[in-house]
Amino acid sequence: MSLPMVVVTRRLPPKAWNALTAHARVVCWESDCPVTHEWLLEHISEADGLYCLLTDQIDQDVLRVGARLRVVSTMSVGYDHIDIPLCTARSIPVGYTPGILTETTADLAFALLLAAARRIVEGADYVRQGQWVEWKPDLLLGQDIYGATLGIVGFGRIGQAVARRAQGFQMNVLAVRSPGQDREARERSVVNENHDDGSNWSPVTFVDLHTALRESDFVSLHVPLTVRTQHLIGDPELRIMKRSSILINTARGAVVDPAALYHALQQKTIGGAALDVTEPEPLPASHPLLTLQNCLVIPHLGSASTATRSRMADMAVENMIAGLRGDRLPHCVNPEVYSS
Ligand code: DGY
Repeated sequence: MSLPMVVVTRRLPPKAWNALTAHARVVCWESDCPVTHEWLLEHISEADGLYCLLTDQIDQDVLRVGARLRVVSTMSVGYDHIDIPLCTARSIPVGYTPGILTETTADLAFALLLAAARRIVEGADYVRQGQWVEWKPDLLLGQDIYGATLGIVGFGRIGQAVARRAQGFQMNVLAVRSPGQDREARERSVVNENHDDGSNWSPVTFVDLHTALRESDFVSLHVPLTVRTQHLIGDPELRIMKRSSILINTARGAVVDPAALYHALQQKTIGGAALDVTEPEPLPASHPLLTLQNCLVIPHLGSASTATRSRMADMAVENMIAGLRGDRLPHCVNPEVYSS
C-alpha cells in the first residue's frame, strides 16, 4: 500500500523527520525562509497531511486546493494562522502543541521583564560602545521588580507559569482572564494547572483589564489572538497605564496596536515595552518602534530553546501520524470534528 503524502513547510529535527518519514512520503520546503504561498499551492493538491509553522497562512486558498487534506498539524501552540472554522467545516482535525512550551515561554516573558526593568540591553550596548569609562550613581537607573505589581492579561497555562515566577520575586499579581473563555473552562484550567504541576503558588487577585492596567508596574500579555483580542491594548488602554509601567508582549503582535504603542512610548506616557512579538512580523529594521530607547524588541523567541523546539516538532509529528491513521489527534484544536 502506498504511503500517504505530507507537505512539510520547514526541515524537521532528525527524530521528528525519521518518525514522520516512517509513516508518510514527505514533500518538504527546503529553504530556511518561510514557505511561499505559491509553493504551498503547487504541492498541497496531492497532500493527505500538512505540517506547518506559525509563519504559514493556512487560508481558504490552501484549504481549497488541498482538497485531499485529512489532517493539519502546526508546530505551535498558537493557531491564528489557520482558518480553523473552515478546517472544522471540512472535518479536518488540526493539531497543535499545547503545554510543552509553557515554561520556556514564561521564562522568556520574565527575561524580558527583567531586561526592560533593569535596562540590561542598554547597559550591554553602553559597554560595547566603549562608553563605560567611570561608575556613576545615576547611570541607567531602572525599576525594582521585587515587590512590584504585575498584571497578567490572559491567565491560561503561560500566564499562570509567569505568575509562579513572579511569586519568587514577591510580586503582587493581578490576573485578567482571557476574553472569550467561558467561566467554567477558565476556572477548570486554573485549578488543573495548579494541581497538575504540584506547585503551591498562592492565588492571585483576579481583576478586570482596566484595573490591571491602572494598578500594575508591569503588564504581561498572554491571550491568544482572536477577533476579541486583536488590538486589545490600544490607545485608551495605554492611557490608563502608569507613566512608569512596562508592557511585555510574548503572545501575538496584533494584540497590541503598534501605532498607539509607538505614540505612548514616544510621548513617555508609559515607561517602556519589551516585545517578543510584533505587528507586522518580522518587524522591518526601519520601523519607528525601533527608534525608541524605551522599546526592546526580540524576534519571536518565546519557545526558542533547543529542547522545547525539538519536543514541539515531535508533538506535531505525533498529531500528524494520528491524523493520517484516522485516529483522534492527541492535541486537537477542533475536537468537534469527531462528534459530527
Ligand atoms: C507558538 O507556538 O505559538 C509560539 O508563539 C512559538 O513561540
